[in-house]
Amino acid sequence: MRVIVTNSYDEMSKEAAKIVAGQIYLKPDSVLGLATGSTPLQMYKKLIAVHEMVGLDFSQVTSFNLDEYIGMSPDNPQSYHYFMKHNFFDFINIKPENIFIPDGMAKDIDAEGRRYDALIEEKGGIDLQILGIGRNAHIGFNEPDIKFEATTHKVKLDDETIEANSRFFENESEVPRYAISMGIKTIMLAKKVVLLASGSNKAEAVYNAVYGSISPSAPASILQLHRDVTVIVDKEAGALLQKHAQQ
Ligand code: PGA
Repeated sequence: MRVIVTNSYDEMSKEAAKIVAGQIYLKPDSVLGLATGSTPLQMYKKLIAVHEMVGLDFSQVTSFNLDEYIGMSPDNPQSYHYFMKHNFFDFINIKPENIFIPDGMAKDIDAEGRRYDALIEEKGGIDLQILGIGRNAHIGFNEPDIKFEATTHKVKLDDETIEANSRFFENESEVPRYAISMGIKTIMLAKKVVLLASGSNKAEAVYNAVYGSISPSAPASILQLHRDVTVIVDKEAGALLQKHAQQ
């Protein structure tokens, strides 16, 4: 793992955007794995700026998002379809037919998971996967568990995740209880992974991802087994890493 501790959320976002932009310059038809949440927002803004200012070209890019709430239609403002459209896709020249997000409205979620994994494979696999991390060290919506779920699957969200995500809703009772998420194998098959984290409430999860024992109780810890992972954090999220390094 390569770990970059930056001075601020803005710097973290800039480093991440540089990696994504570099990937697209080197391979214009890259397949990106994308994440929602507050963490990647500024990275998306910076990529939009690079697109507008120097013409970073997304016309051949394909994207696969990590997850979606079950039961949420794409036009629901709380859905991840809506998030991606309004925070990123509407502002770049990616082709709508090259955008893939799990369908939270699918009648048969297991079949949707199989369809999604097959599509990723058909597109040649993910070249660069962007990840956030939950306070409980989840990646995508792979919550702490007694085993790693391999493929795209239905997830029951943890109470901690429901509480954390309630900030986007009127109240906690409105947060969906289930989601569909790429699995750990799907994520691990990405050629490169960039994990982002910002804020002191992520410090323990980041520490467990980088130095903790590899265990499904801290899903991000599996990334220690991936051969090309860059962890980019601000100094608050990296606080425990720095302590570890000084020991
Ligand atoms: P956040 O979510 O970026 O909104 O903190 C990250 C996650 O839960 O994976």
